[in-house]
Order: sequence, then C-alpha cells, then structure tokens
Amino acid sequence: MSHLVLSHYQSKVLLTARREGKPSVQVSPDLNRTMVEVSLTEEGVRFPDHRIISWPNLEQIDQSETKCFVVEEGTINGIQTFSETTRWARSLMPTAHAPTMLVSGIPMHRIQGTEPYRDTLKKIKTLAPMVGMVLDTATGLGYTAIEAARTAEEVITIEIDPASLEIARLNPWSEELFDNPKIRQIVGDVYDEVEAFADESFSRILHDPPMFSLAGDLYAGEFYAQLHRILRHRGRLFHYIGDLSSKSGQGVMRGVVRRLSEAGFSRVERRPEAFGVLAYK
Ligand SMILES: C[S@@+](CC[C@H](N)C(=O)[O-])C[C@H]1O[C@@H](n2cnc3c(N)ncnc32)[C@H](O)[C@@H]1O
Repeated sequence: MSHLVLSHYQSKVLLTARREGKPSVQVSPDLNRTMVEVSLTEEGVRFPDHRIISWPNLEQIDQSETKCFVVEEGTINGIQTFSETTRWARSLMPTAHAPTMLVSGIPMHRIQGTEPYRDTLKKIKTLAPMVGMVLDTATGLGYTAIEAARTAEEVITIEIDPASLEIARLNPWSEELFDNPKIRQIVGDVYDEVEAFADESFSRILHDPPMFSLAGDLYAGEFYAQLHRILRHRGRLFHYIGDLSSKSGQGVMRGVVRRLSEAGFSRVERRPEAFGVLAYK
C-alpha cells in the first residue's frame, strides 16, 4: 500500500468540511497527485482503503507550513531528518502542487511565482530532445531524474546525502525514482564519482547543485573539466544557477560562464527562463 501523506493544504480542506457539517469531501491522499472521496466521521477522516486519521492529528498537521506528514496506524510522523553526513536538516515542504525539500531552511526548487514541478520542466526543456545517456548530478527529490527518464535511454543520478533519499522515499512525487528501471542511483559525492565515467559517456548532463555558497566545488573549473570530458561531442550541459537577473545570480553566472569556457565548452548561452546556462561541447 502506498503511503498516505498529508499536509496543511489537505487538513484545511478536511477541517473546513467538518465545520460545515459535510459527511464527505474530495481530498488528495498523496500531496495533490490524485484525489479520493473521504468520509468525515466522529472518530476522524476515513479514506477509501479504510485508513483513518483522527481530528487531533489533523489539527496538528494544520499547524505546520514547512513539513508534510506520513499517516500510519493512528499516528502521524513529520517527514524530516537531520543528516549526520552533511549536518543539514531537511524536511518535505508542501506547496499547492508538488512538494519541495527544505535544506537548512532553503527550498530545493523554485517556489516563488512558480512551483517545483514547473521549475523542473523548465530545466528539462533546455536539453530537449532528452536522448541517450543522461547524467543528473544531484538527485534531491529526483524530479529532474524522473522527467529526464521519460525520453532518455538511461539516467544516472548522484546524491551525496542518504537523508535526502530517505525523504524522497516518503514523497509520492518521487515514486518513479525508485520504480523506473531506466534510472540508476548512485549515493556518493558527484565531484569524485564523475572521475569513474569513461570519456564521452553522456549525451546530456543536468547539473542542479545547491547554491554556490553551499557547494563551491560543484562550480569549480576542475569539476567542469570532468563534465566536459564525459560529455559526448555535440552534447549539452544545463547548469542551474539561480535568478540571473539578481545581483548575486549575475556574479555567479559570470564566473560559471568563464570557467565553463576555460574547461573547453565551445558555447555557453544564458537561459534566464530556467535560471541557468546551457553549455555546448
Ligand atoms: C538543488 S537539489 C537537486 C534537486 C533535484 N534535481 C530535483 O529535481 O529534485 C541539490 C541536491 O544535491 C545534493 N548534493 C550536494 N552536494 C552534492 C555532491 N557533492 N554530490 C552529489 N550530490 C550533492 C544535495 O544533498 C541536494 O539533495
């Protein structure tokens, strides 16, 4: 049975329906992926598969804007971890669409004026057609890996922090990361892992690192030289940076463009709509 995962978006719907005296209402059991009809009873909310969540538990979910909850046999557990590997606190943060992950308080996807999945599709589009072998340098919730795998031959995705994958396992939107046989996961530091790939292994590389101040080595010339080496002739690299129109975004972008060119990329284009740059080999 898949996880029942709820956030304050769903608790609001349920608590409002109860106040209005409704016997049933439509709500999502998986953070807006699907909808089901649930019964509102004295005891709590009954889902079609007979799982029940109590009203006090729903009141508790309603208090939290920054995490989602797994409902299991009468208890609720916030989806959050503290990683010993990276010393980063993480939680699955709901939005009105797909959730994002908060890492030390910073959302892993863009959520201002957009939502995590639209943000993902913008990144993916820069590499269309997404064909052949694809390297996704930073797994996170797996959204870029999942979308790349729709058309790629195979996607290799690398994540340094097992705690990130623990959270992804509980996220209904990350399910295909674990189910899709075209996706191969590596747990490790991408900075080191890239050295093991043969020259010209990938047609596309999607580089979606944490921000520059948190992961400077993933913006370094030596790392870009490795990405250039493992990319096929005429292959493309998308490098997420952040808002290119902001002062800090422009500063980071100038350095990225210079170091990508020095690493051998023949052309580097700005892709402001996807908050990054596209580099050609
Ligand atoms: C911006 S998120 C990636 C989001 C992801 N593309 C998605 O679609 O959900 C960056 C991820 O990179 C991971 N990371 C940070 N440093 C890394 C490294 N050196 N090697 C591999 N992964 C790393 C972080 O733990 C984090 O989960």
